[in-house]
Amino acid sequence: MEPREIKRGVYYVGAVDWDRRLFDSLIPLPDGTSYNSYLIKGKEKTALIDTVNPTMEQVLLNHLDELKLKKLDYLIANHAEQDHSGTIPRVLEKYPEARLVCTPRCKGMLIDLLLLPEDRFVTAEDRETISLGDRTLEFIHAPWVHWPETMFTYLKEDKILFSCDFFGSHLATSNLYVTDEAQVYEAAKRYYSEIMMPFRSNIQKNLEKIKDYAIDFICPSHGPVYDKPEFIIKAHRDWAFCEPKNIVVLPYVSMHGSTRKMVTYFVDALAQRGVTVKQFDLTVTDLGKLAMSLVDAATIVVATPTVHAGPHPAAAYAVSLANMVRANVKFASVIGSYGWGGKTVEQLVAMVPNLKVEFLPTVIVKGYPRQPDFEALDNLAETIAQKHREQGFK
Ligand code: FEO
Repeated sequence: MEPREIKRGVYYVGAVDWDRRLFDSLIPLPDGTSYNSYLIKGKEKTALIDTVNPTMEQVLLNHLDELKLKKLDYLIANHAEQDHSGTIPRVLEKYPEARLVCTPRCKGMLIDLLLLPEDRFVTAEDRETISLGDRTLEFIHAPWVHWPETMFTYLKEDKILFSCDFFGSHLATSNLYVTDEAQVYEAAKRYYSEIMMPFRSNIQKNLEKIKDYAIDFICPSHGPVYDKPEFIIKAHRDWAFCEPKNIVVLPYVSMHGSTRKMVTYFVDALAQRGVTVKQFDLTVTDLGKLAMSLVDAATIVVATPTVHAGPHPAAAYAVSLANMVRANVKFASVIGSYGWGGKTVEQLVAMVPNLKVEFLPTVIVKGYPRQPDFEALDNLAETIAQKHREQGFK
């Protein structure tokens, strides 16, 4: 696709990666992604905000050629991660006069990650500005969205916030702007859950920090540009500030049907008590959907058989993911079956040191579940419903 003008002299020059299906060798990308880069031509100086993943470097360089960019004054690095910084060495080579602008912490990281020479850098303090002649860039330090060195760049005269990963979505689209808010909401929530949720208190601080800025456009570094940014700001405020909802997330795995029988019964028991359940078969589930469900849920109940004295590896992986994204759940439990013994519950509990949860009674069954086991599941469902009511989770 061609470079696209957002406002006079402000261009989208990034790359859409329709076919990528995995990020960080971990995160599923069902809808591809994009690496957004933006060129600002001021009256006296030009600035490029972020670059693209190295696999797409030629797309960015071609865009700069198409816009007849002969001289670049500033290359702004909002974030050191390689999907945005990976083409910096090539851009610095092509434009030898360009100075690389970033936070002091980002400078060290870029030197470590890309082996860049120190003399190309200019570091920006929080709220520091540079002039492009008729336009002003303000650098807003925004640590931990989602690395320690991150910052936003605000183009004052045009009221554009270049937010890097923040407000982003892994979504390949031919549209420059958001055209389907429901679709982008889903992609952005998935992105938030995987990337931003572990840093919830920092997200809150950074949302507060930009509260008083007039913002007409948000230009993130993944996904479409927001020309009506209110909806995505409100969505992030909901995700970062709101109490959990009356939801149980139930990731499960079953080998011979005992645990599955318990899951089926337990889902009904919760539903009868007015609790919403999100059930995930871990042998086939999209882990991004599981992570997304953990943004809102009040409770996680893991269902697993015992395999060689511990949890099934699929259950251990899901629990490790919930711990990594620091799910905002308040209650947790384990249900499942075993053949002759084991330490499944103890091992799973030890895997979630990041979760601030109250552990509820577990239901662990020898062999196939019987009537007393179903009664125990009813009791657990009742306890969860009651806890949610007491906390006011709706
Ligand atoms: Fe899109 Fe943190 O990189």
